[in-house]
Amino acid sequence: MWVCFCRAVTDRTVRAAIEAGATTPRRLAETCGAGTRCGGCTPALERLLAECGIGDPAQLDSRESAA
Ligand code: FES
Repeated sequence: MWVCFCRAVTDRTVRAAIEAGATTPRRLAETCGAGTRCGGCTPALERLLAECGIGDPAQLDSRESAA
């Protein structure tokens, strides 16, 4: 299933990136390019992170920015 139409990224690719250690939408963007254009897929990326047991991705991103 397509998750990011702008960058042609599927849920399978996103899940693989999460399994490889991506824990935030920002890390997913760096890893597979998802979310790097219009940003419309960010909620879907956050949902996939949550499905994979990653905490609240928005809070994780905030902590990254503050660091
Ligand atoms: S749909 Fe992912 S950046 Fe546009």
